[in-house]
Order: sequence, then structure tokens, then C-alpha cells
Amino acid sequence: MSDDLLARHRAVLPSWLTLYYEQPLEIASGAGRRVTGADGREYLDFFGGILTNMLGYGVPEVRAAVDAVLDRGVVHTSTLYLIRDQVELAERIARLSGIPDAKVFFTSSGTEANEMALLLATQARRSAQVLALRNSYHGRSFAAMGITGIRGWSASALSPVQVSYVHGGYRYRSPYRDLPDAEYTAACVADLRDVIESTTAGDVACMIAEPIQGVGGFAVPPDGFFGAMKAVLDEYGILFVSDEVQTGWGRTGEHFWGIQAHGVTPDVMTFAKGFGNGLAIGGVVARGELMDGIAANSISTFGGNPLATAAARATVDYVLEHDLQANALKVGDQLLRGLRDLGAEHDAIGEVRGKGLMAALELVAPGSDRPDPAAAARLMEETRARGLLIGKGGRLGNVLRMAPPLTLTEAEAEEGLSILADSLAALR
Ligand SMILES: Cc1ncc(COP(=O)(O)O)c(C=O)c1O
Repeated sequence: MSDDLLARHRAVLPSWLTLYYEQPLEIASGAGRRVTGADGREYLDFFGGILTNMLGYGVPEVRAAVDAVLDRGVVHTSTLYLIRDQVELAERIARLSGIPDAKVFFTSSGTEANEMALLLATQARRSAQVLALRNSYHGRSFAAMGITGIRGWSASALSPVQVSYVHGGYRYRSPYRDLPDAEYTAACVADLRDVIESTTAGDVACMIAEPIQGVGGFAVPPDGFFGAMKAVLDEYGILFVSDEVQTGWGRTGEHFWGIQAHGVTPDVMTFAKGFGNGLAIGGVVARGELMDGIAANSISTFGGNPLATAAARATVDYVLEHDLQANALKVGDQLLRGLRDLGAEHDAIGEVRGKGLMAALELVAPGSDRPDPAAAARLMEETRARGLLIGKGGRLGNVLRMAPPLTLTEAEAEEGLSILADSLAALR
């Protein structure tokens, strides 16, 4: 029974391991964009296990790839031996990255990928100084927490890197919020220069940024923002790392990588989440000389393991063969249009934002911009009660996030919007 499982969960798992919903949900099975709970109810899933089920559930192509590995009887070999899928996947990512002479290192998570990116940059620049964005999330290791600009996700002040935070794309609560795009970007670029000049010793290793901040509530900077930031980084020889853990693989619709909206090629990109359609795999792609600049052995025992690489290969093939980026653009636009209509109707919605199949509602006390996390929690319950799963986020816990599988259909987008409309009406 689900209640019993909740009590057992609470007894043996950490108290800070957050569960959604007053009556937490156990997901029992899934197909397409729908899951069935142990409560026997079916849900349309607009969060996909935090963007991990990028193609949806029960995808035959991914299953066949995993089955083929299991059928061979060897689930893991370690990277001490050649892994064909790993090499072929690295070739594909190196090509897709647009980074010249790129090399790829596979990990088992986004955190580990960002840790590696920091290692590459700090080694190359012989500096432990790093720039990160306010309202960022990069993972749960000491270094990743060190570059995470959300108090609620940064459990320790211990950090192997020395971090300075700059303004980023969270415009709704920025002191520059009222500025038009170009001036907003110019103000943030001026802040970046000021931070480099006033809070660092000059020889900064890198700046790391999410093109659209995920955990931070899908905060979207103006297009070209990171291009303008990178021009300053280049003056100082500071490397640029794009954390594509949420924005990669066409999710933003307009581009394959989120950073491409900014007209720049980063020195390093990191990825994870939906890459293996649920299997644990992440990685780093970087210019070859950066990747080869590590002067010691390094290994991730399970990074790029045969099972996960086979799933990731099948997933990336599926994304490309079905042009899911185009689907993210089309269905994402439909979703965002519908959400904007809801935003115009409900004064509890302070802002609707997003790109492609990343869409967010920031909830506020009506008539103000005061964050309303209680309304966000209620809307989570109301949507669940009507058969829709969505996510929550934002530094203040008042942002609802929707990032459905990239295979979402127009009919499913409409269905989700109608549930959201009813749920918002129930909030009144
Ligand atoms: C942008 C971003 N980077 C890194 C991470 C960390 O990834 P993982 O949880 O796989 O370690 C996350 C996870 O939410 C993320 O959203």
C-alpha cells in the first residue's frame, strides 16, 4: 500500500529527499507520455521524471538497444576495454556539438559532468576561480553546489572552487527587469565586467551557465545574451561552459543546444538527464586540447557503460530521425501560447516564460509580484487530481515547470492546457 511505502520511505531515506504531493505518488508503469500510478490512476506526464524520459515511456527502439546488450550477457566491462557504442556515440556528439576537434567523456550524471567541466577549465587555466550565475543549479557534489546560485540547493559552503556570481536570465526578479532586451543584456555584461574586475584575481578559469535555468524556474535570457557575455570572457581568456543538462537535444525547439540561441560556441558543454531516456548517463564535450589537458589518470567506472551508451545511442538516433526538435518547436509554441492565454486571465500568474518544450508559470499573490509558493503547491495538487503531472521549481518555490517528453502531441498539449485551466479556476 502506498501509505505504508511512504512511512517506510520516511523511516530509511533522508528527510531532505523531497517528495511531490501531500500523498506522494508511486509510478508503476508508463507508455508514450502517460504513466500509471500505484493508485491505479493514469496521468499525462508533463515533467517526465525531471526531463529524463525525453522520448516518453516504453519506447521500443530504446528497449531493443538495451535488450541487445543484456542478450550479450555482459552488462558492464569498464572503460579499460573498447566499447563500440561509446565510441560511436562520442563521434556523433563531437560532430553535433559544433566544437572544433571535440572529444567526449561520459559520466553517470549531470553533477559528475559539471565536475569534469570544472576540472578541465581549472586545469587549463591553472586557476580555481569560477564565475557562475545567480539562480543557477548545477548538481550536488561540493563543486557543483559551489556553483549553484540557489540557497535551497546549496547545502554546504565548502567548495573546491572560488566562485563569483553574476546576473543572468532570471529577469522577473532582476534589478534590471524593466529594461528592454538589449539594455538588459548590456546591464548584465557590465555587471560581469565589474565582478571580474572587483571580486577576482583576474585569472578566472571559466564561466558556467545554463542557457535556460532549469531548477531556477526556466529563466530565459534574451537571445544573444551569452554571446555578449562571451565577448567579455574572451577579453580575459576565460573559458565558457554551457550546462546543457536540461536544454540539450532540441528541447528548446529553435536549436539543438540551448546555447545556439546566443550565437556562440562554448569551449565545453555538459549534458545528462534525457540523454539515455531514463538510463543514467551524462557527459562532457570539449575542445580536444582541453580534454587532453588532464595530467593524471581519471576514470568513471560506470560512465559510458555499455547499457547506458546503447540506450543513449538509440535515444539520440530517435531524436534526430524523428526531428523531435521540430516537434518541440511546434508543440512547445502551442503550449506556450495556451499558457500565455491563461496568464492573461489569471492574476495569480506573474509571468509565463519558456522556450520549446520548457514552459513555466511563476505564481504570485494577485496584484503583486510577491512569490506565492502555497499557490504553486495547491496547483500541483489540483493538476494531479485532474490527471496531469507537472514540476515545481524556482528559487522561491513558486514556479511551476512543464517539460514533457519531446514526442508530445498537439492533442496532448491541448489536454494538459485544459487541465491547467480547470486547476487554475479551482484555485480562485
Ligand atoms: C542544469 C543542470 N545541471 C546539472 C544537474 C545535475 O544533474 P544530476 O542530478 O544528474 O547530477 C541538473 C539536475 O537537475 C541540472 O538541471
